[in-house]
Amino acid sequence: MTELTIRVSRFDPVSGEPARLVPYTVEVHEGARVLNALHAAHEQDPTLAYRYCCGSGQCGSCAMKVNGKPVLACMTPVADGDVIEPLDLPVVRDLVVDLVPRLQRIAALVPGGEGTLPDAETVDRLKELCDCIECGSCISVCPAVAVTDFSGPTAMRQLERLSLDPRDAGDRIAEADRENLFACTVCHACYEACPKEIRIPGKAIERLRAEAHRRGLSIPRHVEVADLVRTTDRSVARTVTPLFERVDAVMEPYGPVRGEVAFFVGCMYSMRLPETALDAIEVLRRNGIRVIIPMEQVCCGSPLIRTGQLEELARLKKTNIDAFRPYPLVMTTCAGCGMTLKTNYGELPFRVMDINEVLTEFGIEPPARLPLTVTYHDPCHLLRGQGISEEPRAFIRQVADLVEMPARCCGSGGGVKSGKPEEADALGELRREAIAATGAEQVISSCPFCEFHIQGHTDLPVRNVASLLLEGYRKKDAETAGSPDQPSS
Ligand code: SF4
Ligand code: SF4
Ligand code: FES
Repeated sequence: MTELTIRVSRFDPVSGEPARLVPYTVEVHEGARVLNALHAAHEQDPTLAYRYCCGSGQCGSCAMKVNGKPVLACMTPVADGDVIEPLDLPVVRDLVVDLVPRLQRIAALVPGGEGTLPDAETVDRLKELCDCIECGSCISVCPAVAVTDFSGPTAMRQLERLSLDPRDAGDRIAEADRENLFACTVCHACYEACPKEIRIPGKAIERLRAEAHRRGLSIPRHVEVADLVRTTDRSVARTVTPLFERVDAVMEPYGPVRGEVAFFVGCMYSMRLPETALDAIEVLRRNGIRVIIPMEQVCCGSPLIRTGQLEELARLKKTNIDAFRPYPLVMTTCAGCGMTLKTNYGELPFRVMDINEVLTEFGIEPPARLPLTVTYHDPCHLLRGQGISEEPRAFIRQVADLVEMPARCCGSGGGVKSGKPEEADALGELRREAIAATGAEQVISSCPFCEFHIQGHTDLPVRNVASLLLEGYRKKDAETAGSPDQPSS
């Protein structure tokens, strides 16, 4: 037996007191789960309320937060010091949340339809969507649920499941549209939280959106973006001199060549925030990396995929693959482009890496430190879309003090900023609060959509990791130039 202490959130709505964490020192067997520790705590205090049933990951009753992350208590090993809280949903008591209003919005099959059995291909697609155990984890982390009437990720999963099933008589696309289908920011938080690993954004929401688009249910602003891509190959209009008109096709490093990347710039960094892309190029050249910019590159197609408008996608993919085919390593700086190339393009004749991965792999010259405290906003499509979290943090820590804030969607993705601006603003304001709570002087991120959107929701400077590194290098150069050991010019 092992002795450990867990801290459990206790809340009684009748008392009027706020929730508080109560420590319980319990004895559990080797390999015990959180649920075992809760049972031991319950023996000490029978008023502790929590739900469970199967004890084997099948019923979904025991979903709760352990150290801030939604998990199934019966499947999660317990550790000394664990903090155990309810899901971020209305709390009934202690660890018990009220899921009823949410579960009531999950549709049931209505017998009828074509009345036939699904064919083998449909069965495979249904399987991807049928594993839900209605634990509520995805709902509890969904930013769209937090600020709109969106019915939630698992309700959308069920609508896609029913829309595929020939035995169902409902019009599930119209229903999804009524349930605010286009509110999803495609942040992937639901997939990250799901104990059954159901890829709701890609397997349900983007498919429902594609069908809604075929039915003429697209948001007019999304159609405008698709028209812009069709006519200009770019998803944002020209407002400044684009990067492609400001750089050479090949830019050699300042020292010996240590590597080479073909730079997939993306619409935002080329058309709206080219200064940030120029900063990234400077950091790469300083670290011995040759930067090649294939000028034939076009929009990656992400804004079309996320909003279900797929007509131009094959052409964009082919143009980009042909443009980058000669280069073994393609580098993205936009989290959305990187996720799209890595996950939506299929097999590629080149390797795709985000700039944070490239600089980590090659290693960087240490920059000077700045007297600066910053916080880092995780772009959803970098953190969950590409699994990149530590790399940018390691670079930031070389330059400044880093204060963490919870990773949460800023509201700019999935076509929400263009199609649902009020939702995007509501989520941006939640970021404002989180940023302010850190006490940081600047916000650092690594995605142009996040940087652009958050700029409208904080009074602090919002900058890219590469721009911060470059400032560190400039300070280092200034210190070196001012050093008495160096010849003055
Ligand atoms: S991807 Fe994000 S916004 Fe969309 S349903 Fe999942 S959690 Fe909600
Ligand atoms: S989709 Fe996954 S996270 Fe959401 S309720 Fe179902 S099992 Fe839980
Ligand atoms: S008790 Fe059933 S999933 Fe945990």
